[in-house]
Amino acid sequence: MARQKTILDIQKMKAEGERITMLTAYDYPFARLMDQCGIDMILVGDSLGTAVAGHDTTLPVTMDEMIYHAKAVVRAVESAFVVVDMPFMSYQTDVRDARYNAGRLIKEGGAQAVKIEGGCNMAETIAAITAMDIPVVGHIGLTPQSIHRMGGYRVQGRQEEQAKRLLDDARAVEQAGAFAVVLEGIPRKLAAEITRELSIPTIGIGAGVDCDGQVLVIHDILGLCEKYSPKFVKKFADVSGMIRQGIDDYIREVKDGEFPTPDHSFD
Ligand code: KIV
Repeated sequence: MARQKTILDIQKMKAEGERITMLTAYDYPFARLMDQCGIDMILVGDSLGTAVAGHDTTLPVTMDEMIYHAKAVVRAVESAFVVVDMPFMSYQTDVRDARYNAGRLIKEGGAQAVKIEGGCNMAETIAAITAMDIPVVGHIGLTPQSIHRMGGYRVQGRQEEQAKRLLDDARAVEQAGAFAVVLEGIPRKLAAEITRELSIPTIGIGAGVDCDGQVLVIHDILGLCEKYSPKFVKKFADVSGMIRQGIDDYIREVKDGEFPTPDHSFD
C-alpha cells in the first residue's frame, strides 16, 4: 500500500521544482481512479454544488454535504493528499465558526487540510485555523463564493490596482500560515509573479503554466459538464459520449429483447 502524501511532500515538490497535480473528486470511484493514476492532491471542492448537484453556484453547498463527499473520497485514497473545501457560510461569519467547521472537516470528513477562499480579509481566519494545527490552502483571485461581489465569474487582477491587491492577498495568505494557495482566474504574468514571490506552492486554475501546480474540476476535463466550458478547461476525454453510447445500447437491447442473454441469467 502506498504511503499517503503529507504537506511536507507537497512543499518539497515546490522546493525541487516538480509540478504538483491536483484534481477535484466528490465520490469513491473517481477518487480511487485518480489515486491509482498517481495524482498528487485531491480536492473535495465545493464545486460539487455545480458539478454534481446541479446548482448554478457553489453558494448552496452545506457542511454536511462536504462531509458526506469527503468521507467517500477519503475511503478510496491511499496516496494522494486530500484537501476539503470550506463551504460558503462555514467560515465567513466569525473565527469561532471557522475553527469549529474546519475541525469537523478533519474529524468527520477525514480531510488532511481545508481550503478557504479570500486573501487579506481571511488572514485572521487562516491564522486561527492553522493555530489548531489544521493545514490550510488559501484561494485567491476568482473566488466562486464571491460571485455576487465580482458580478460573475470574471478574470481578476487585470487592472494594476487589482493586481497589486492580489499580490497583497497572496502575501497575507502565506503570512497567516497557509501551506499552499490556489490562484484562480488571474493573468498568467501575475500568477508567475506571485509564484516567484511566495515560498509556499501556488496551484493554478486559469492562471497559466508558471504556477507550481495545476488544479481542474474532474467533470470538466472528462467532458462531463456540458453546461459551462471556461477558456482554461481542456477536455482530456469525452466521457459523456461514452456514457450516452452505453445507455443507448442498454435501452436498445432491452427493448429488442437482446438483453439479458442466458449468460446473464440463472438456471
Ligand atoms: O471547488 C473547487 O473545485 C475549487 C477549485 C476548482 C479550485 O475550488
